[in-house]
Amino acid sequence: MSEAILKIEQLCVSFDGFPVLDNLDLVVARGELRFLIGPNGAGKTTLMDVISGKVRARSGRVLYDPTVPASGDPHPATIEVHGEIRFEGLDLARMREDAIVRAGIARKFQTPSVFNSITVAENIAVAASYRDRFLRQLFPPSAERRERVQAALETVGLRDRAHVLAGALSHGERQWLEIAMLLVQSPRVMLLDEPIAGMTRPERERTGELLHRLAGAHTIIITEHDMDFVRQFARTVTVLHMGRVLREGPVEAIQADPVVREVYLGRQKTPAGEPA
Ligand SMILES: Nc1ncnc2c1ncn2[C@@H]1O[C@H](COP(=O)(O)OP(=O)(O)O)[C@@H](O)[C@H]1O
Ligand SMILES: [Mg+2]
Repeated sequence: MSEAILKIEQLCVSFDGFPVLDNLDLVVARGELRFLIGPNGAGKTTLMDVISGKVRARSGRVLYDPTVPASGDPHPATIEVHGEIRFEGLDLARMREDAIVRAGIARKFQTPSVFNSITVAENIAVAASYRDRFLRQLFPPSAERRERVQAALETVGLRDRAHVLAGALSHGERQWLEIAMLLVQSPRVMLLDEPIAGMTRPERERTGELLHRLAGAHTIIITEHDMDFVRQFARTVTVLHMGRVLREGPVEAIQADPVVREVYLGRQKTPAGEPA
């Protein structure tokens, strides 16, 4: 196995005293495509929240975060985070969200969001400019930035849609645009939380192929519910259950594991014993 890029040790997160991640250890190698699976509430999204700094430890302990709105989703009054998330000599568990983005961790569905009233290429150019210094943003895009935009369009397969308004894209195309907007920022690690949700079957196929093209040059951590997709495109799978790593290994072994079948597939099991 190649060198580790992300090393999570003894990560504990609790919301209002309720443990959501419980002494979680996880090592991801550089260039890996790692699937995180597990039943609803296992802690997959929370794990991405801590890696990306949305939930973080301040000197080992986070108490009430006043930036979190009081209404809307249920938000905990007390968040506690312990443990370490090692990435290139940094501890992400103790860094601010913007510093984590600058360090090269990109998360889809976070910032930036898609602007519907400008074109696909323009959206990618805006995302590319985030990486440049403020003064550079005032000048016309450099040839280098234009090339980065073209390369991202090409990679996600949206070259023919470059001049279409983003608002006119299909759901799947929109997801690819968001991935392109991450790519132009040259991330080291990409976090994708259920990116294929709502996609048609052909769109899922294309996304799976895209993930395989991106892995190697990028490290990707992805969560997914659709077991057909996981079977088809995963290599190494980590199964989370109740905030802990239940199993980890090659997809074939995970799929055959009776404990995983029981907790993950649970009531979905058909009488024949095969997942529905
Ligand atoms: N903002 C929050 N406030 C309180 N509890 C939360 C919050 N976010 C998630 N949880 C709880 O943490 C647990 C894990 O949730 P989550 O990380 O979203 O799981 P998954 O993504 O695996 O479905 C669940 O029990 C959920 O109810
Ligand atoms: Mg989730």
